[in-house]
Amino acid sequence: MAQHPQPHHGARGGTEYRGVLERMNRFQEPEVRQAIADLQLPMGSYGLDVGCGVGLYTLWLAEALGPQGRVLGFEPQAEHVAVAQRQVGDSPAAGRLEFRPGDGTALPLADQSCDWVWCSDVLHHIPDPVLALQEFMRVLRPGGGVIITPLLCFGRGEATSSC
Ligand SMILES: C[S@@+](CC[C@H](N)C(=O)[O-])C[C@H]1O[C@@H](n2cnc3c(N)ncnc32)[C@H](O)[C@@H]1O
Repeated sequence: MAQHPQPHHGARGGTEYRGVLERMNRFQEPEVRQAIADLQLPMGSYGLDVGCGVGLYTLWLAEALGPQGRVLGFEPQAEHVAVAQRQVGDSPAAGRLEFRPGDGTALPLADQSCDWVWCSDVLHHIPDPVLALQEFMRVLRPGGGVIITPLLCFGRGEATSSC
């Protein structure tokens, strides 16, 4: 059984960790893009990627929203933010993406200011996840949605997940 690469959580801010995170994201790209498509996020909507890591999911979310859609990625690790900014810099969606340092429990946004919140493989890293959920609900517009995933594990061919 093939194993998914696992990030080394002891060095979450390190270069090695970012490399693993990026490889994991790219390994899962087809399935994650499909999962995003299945969500049918509203075209032209404005969403958040909380704990966006190296920013690839943020990019794929933006690409699924049409030319008017926008995504703001929050990430507490400044080095991740820098990598995310570099990584999407040349993409056609770059102008519709923004990355900021930030904590999921204290989002510097007005009440009811976004259409949806995506939070992938992050909530279990937050010491007070209930506070984060309250914060997500605060910034959501009425009718908005919160998408929370644990570690995204997808099987592909003979590779199956043990998660
Ligand atoms: C396993 S990584 C997942 C990154 C990305 N969401 C993905 O799915 O590839 C967990 C991320 O959560 C971030 N994180 C940890 N505590 C956080 C908090 N309080 N608020 C927001 N993000 C946080 C970490 O810095 C890290 O980038």
